[in-house]
Amino acid sequence: MIVVPVELPGRPYDVVIGAGTRHELAPVVTGLAGVEHAALVTQGSVADAGWLAGLDPGVPFEVDLIEPGEGAKSFATVEELCRRFARRGMSRADVVVAVGGGVVSDVAGFAAATYHRGVRYVNVATTLLAQVDAAVGGKTGVNLPEGKNLLGALWQPEAVLCDTETLRTLDEREWRCGRGEMAKYAFLGEGPPDASLLELEVADQVARCVGIKAAVVAMDEAETGRRMVLNYGHTLAHALEAGAFGRPGDLAHGEAVAIGLLFAALLARRLGRIDDARVDLHREVVVGFGLDPRLPAGSDPEALVVAMGRDKKARHDLTFVLDGPRGVEPVHGVAVGDVVATLAEMETVR
Ligand SMILES: NC(=O)c1ccc[n+]([C@@H]2O[C@H](COP(=O)([O-])OP(=O)(O)OC[C@H]3O[C@@H](n4cnc5c(N)ncnc54)[C@H](O)[C@@H]3O)[C@@H](O)[C@H]2O)c1
Ligand SMILES: [Zn+2]
Repeated sequence: MIVVPVELPGRPYDVVIGAGTRHELAPVVTGLAGVEHAALVTQGSVADAGWLAGLDPGVPFEVDLIEPGEGAKSFATVEELCRRFARRGMSRADVVVAVGGGVVSDVAGFAAATYHRGVRYVNVATTLLAQVDAAVGGKTGVNLPEGKNLLGALWQPEAVLCDTETLRTLDEREWRCGRGEMAKYAFLGEGPPDASLLELEVADQVARCVGIKAAVVAMDEAETGRRMVLNYGHTLAHALEAGAFGRPGDLAHGEAVAIGLLFAALLARRLGRIDDARVDLHREVVVGFGLDPRLPAGSDPEALVVAMGRDKKARHDLTFVLDGPRGVEPVHGVAVGDVVATLAEMETVR
């Protein structure tokens, strides 16, 4: 079992990684002052995969199922959850337990952040993507039809349990999605970026990524600066996910991030921040993590630019997180023309 602390000033918490760590849930929950009930928020596929069997929060609990898919990351789902909490008299002292991937932790975390102006929550992360990224760091929220993650709250979990046994039932696509986020970490850690992380045991892979994220979050919880680097590859990714290319749902988050990483590299080269070799390295790393960096066929550059302008990082101009001589950092004031030209430069899937 590996414990990675998230050293937030005044309220640190642990990410507990390894086989069987879901069974640490009871000590975590019963260790919370005053807790009497838990709302265990999850999805049918997590239950069907067997991961609720024997899962014990140590206090009486109800299971609240939400629908699968990015479409369930909506305000309507949060309202429905909170209404269920209210109908059974859940109090401020009770706890929400999110058992699932990033959709569950984003939605359940946001419900926890807002119900009674905030109740405590614990993440039991059951996808690779949630373990290496989504379940850690306190960003919770839902989508609007206008864009990804436009409603949300910063609300930290009490603990995160990353049980690597649960990854056994993930399909290949969901593994790939997690690796898309891991490719991002390759550019945020120490040393030259490569895909050698994949040679480690899976728990060590998760721990390495969580360690990078935890350090960044502890330094800048509210994303006033450094935390923006965790959005590397994400500006275009969110636009692609929002369906700007006309086929919403075609790309999963991690797949979109992989495309966004190569786009960011090409844009950085256009702005004179990196050279050809560094662009090639981005391509190698993304492919090394098993992902396709090509733009989906039919992508509409204009629609993508509009969607990117709505991205939360945008102020009045376009902002991107880009590689450069000082490493990966936010760059404000990127001209629309450079963005469009970079999109045109990208290889597309036919
Ligand atoms: N809050 C953050 O910091 C953050 C960071 C990265 C991504 N995200 C968000 O995370 C979401 C993507 O998360 P995801 O990739 O985990 O997708 P997901 O939550 O949709 O999970 C994918 C599918 O796998 C199923 N599943 C979950 N665990 C399983 C298991 N152990 N076995 C079998 N099936 C299982 C789910 O029910 C779902 O159908 C996106 O909405 C993204 O925006 C959030
Ligand atoms: Zn992401």
